[in-house]
Amino acid sequence: MAQMSRDLAIDLGTANTLVYAKGRGIVLNEPTVIAVDSRTKGVLSIGEEAWQMIGRTPGSIVAVRPMRQGAITDFEITEQMIHVLLRRVGVGRLNRPKVLICVPSAITAVERRAVKEATRRAGASACYLIEQPMAAAIGAGLAIHEPVGSMVVDVGGGTSEMAVISLGGVVAMRAIRCGGFDLDAAIQGYVRSTFGVAIGERTAEAVKMAIGSAAPFEDEPDAEVRGREVSTGMPRTVVLTAAEVRAAIEEHISQIVVATTTCLGDAPPELAQDIMYEGIHLTGGGALLTGLSQRLADATDVPVHMVDMPLECVVLGAGRCIESFSKLGALFASAER
Ligand SMILES: Nc1ncnc2c1ncn2[C@@H]1O[C@H](COP(=O)(O)OP(=O)(O)OP(=O)(O)O)[C@@H](O)[C@H]1O
Ligand SMILES: [Mg+2]
Repeated sequence: MAQMSRDLAIDLGTANTLVYAKGRGIVLNEPTVIAVDSRTKGVLSIGEEAWQMIGRTPGSIVAVRPMRQGAITDFEITEQMIHVLLRRVGVGRLNRPKVLICVPSAITAVERRAVKEATRRAGASACYLIEQPMAAAIGAGLAIHEPVGSMVVDVGGGTSEMAVISLGGVVAMRAIRCGGFDLDAAIQGYVRSTFGVAIGERTAEAVKMAIGSAAPFEDEPDAEVRGREVSTGMPRTVVLTAAEVRAAIEEHISQIVVATTTCLGDAPPELAQDIMYEGIHLTGGGALLTGLSQRLADATDVPVHMVDMPLECVVLGAGRCIESFSKLGALFASAER
């Protein structure tokens, strides 16, 4: 007997990929890393498995973050990723589900078509798109169909998106290529230029999560980091204060703050008033940075609420859509342009 196809929702983020299966919830949540055969350019594996292959294989295999520069720039890779991803969650000849993909709202019509085609070629019986801020708003439980303005700020790995939503549509938006990865790179750059020490990107990310901040906080701790002295190649430990890490990432934080205030400024006055009352909903892994919500609240003079599950919010919103395809069908029509 043919297996029943479970509809899927996919958030292919620059940092993390999540898949939601209808009736089951999140079935895959892994870093967006792929192992590529450098000779054939074929994708061998994705996610945790891609990490596992590194160092255990001949030198022709490399691990990369394909979406790093903002989602969906390299279509060949995107198509292969979707293909491998669908196989991983059981899509095959006998199981051809409908798939809903979360895409950045800045995506062009050509890119939309390419994503949909790639997904169908990878085995989906149909592919629908939903704009990420819309999915995030649904995931956060906002009343998106009401004639009331809501604002979502999503700080991801490679990008940050701000959107004002009303009556199921995006009314104003800003998207910048600046996210958590840029903060990590800024910390790496600071340690290198100040101490002459090279640290890895994962070390920099760990420092950011441990003591990074967008605004001063109480009892700021220091962090010890191990790296390699550039001049001698010898291992060295340096101590970083929370204040110097904050200064190192400030340039990027202020970009996120400015994009948020500009987006709010672009909203029609009535909707802006709703938002002043309702507040801004902050999501994405980058939103977890200490003090970011405070900075946004200070700059906009609007209350900022962190959503319940910032890393899962987008896929959970898309998941809610596939759970009730018929009820939310109008959304897809608009997103399907
Ligand atoms: N506690 C934390 N403090 C600061 N940053 C964090 C924290 N936890 C996760 N992050 C950062 O969140 C980012 C990943 O967020 P997320 O999974 O929302 O991105 P994504 O959806 O894959 O990216 P994008 O939306 O740009 O495509 C990473 O840069 C990670 O370092
Ligand atoms: Mg995201």
